[in-house]
Amino acid sequence: MTLTEVATPSTGAPPVDSDWADEVRELARRRDAVLLAHNYQLPAIQDIADHTGDSLALSRIAAESDASTIVFCGVHFMAETAKILAPDKTVLIPDAAAGCSLADSISADELRAWKAEHPGAVVVSYVNTTAAVKAETDVCCTSSNAVEVVESIPADREVLFLPDQFLGAHVRRVTGRENMHVWAGECHVHAGINGSVLTAQVEANPDAELFVHPECGCATSALYLAGTGTVPEERVKILSTGGMLDAARASSAKSVLVATEVGMLHQLRRAAPEIDFRAVNDRASCRFMKMITPDKLLRSLRDGTDEVHVDPELAARGRAAVQRMIEIGQPGSAE
Ligand code: 13P
Ligand code: SF4
Repeated sequence: MTLTEVATPSTGAPPVDSDWADEVRELARRRDAVLLAHNYQLPAIQDIADHTGDSLALSRIAAESDASTIVFCGVHFMAETAKILAPDKTVLIPDAAAGCSLADSISADELRAWKAEHPGAVVVSYVNTTAAVKAETDVCCTSSNAVEVVESIPADREVLFLPDQFLGAHVRRVTGRENMHVWAGECHVHAGINGSVLTAQVEANPDAELFVHPECGCATSALYLAGTGTVPEERVKILSTGGMLDAARASSAKSVLVATEVGMLHQLRRAAPEIDFRAVNDRASCRFMKMITPDKLLRSLRDGTDEVHVDPELAARGRAAVQRMIEIGQPGSAE
């Protein structure tokens, strides 16, 4: 991870027109494909998708869809998760190189070594992990249901939570669980939204509500600001991306500071156009998410690229953990 990566602004994408949209829809129809887009995708991709949502909502849609092909506009672990849940479907991602720094922060070998140090512990992996790590996992979670997943584990069982340290700290704070060990991984985009950036924004916008993704480096600072009364407690909300949309629809605030990847602003502004949504760090753009461009989506539908394959043995070992994940808790609403 480098500072330059955190600071890289969104590269945007070539403008799209109605011919592009018509072609995408026609090719999707011919392929019997459903288009799924994560909330961090470029606006044009979010707008053309059949469903836009958070990781949990999209995993559920992938598992239940009748379409024979899933085109996953997101990052590679998301498309892999869809393939694990729907092994008989063709799963495409417009660019297989769209990775995730958080998923890369633990390998299956490292997890096996950690498990050997804690025999009998229950392994809870964030969905932002590779298929090989999921194969070593007891139950997966997303930011929408991490608290409920950990609460579903008997209190006397040790828990290994991975790989995100900020989400892990949030879950430990909410559940009060002491027998939970947290891997020291992080997402470089969310870690860059830190306490000092948040404090400066709060000082500049004293009446704003705060929507904070639990992967952010500033999640603890946000609760500290609430605890000290700098921001009234009811104005500080720690939420998944889908949870932010539900909170936006229910909010009567005039302005909201948003601590997560900047792609989220598009859905928020559509959900509540009367609210002034501002990024806490407007350079928090995930270069992996932005690798899915309109041109690559068109190519994917035209040529059937890039097809996602998961080793069947790994998929079989990870499936129960992913299935447990989609059975627990409520995702934020998907469009
Ligand atoms: P959610 O959409 O589940 O909140 O996940 C955020 C994220 O960082 C995905 O990479
Ligand atoms: Fe991974 Fe972070 Fe990008 Fe999400 S925002 S895909 S966690 S690198």
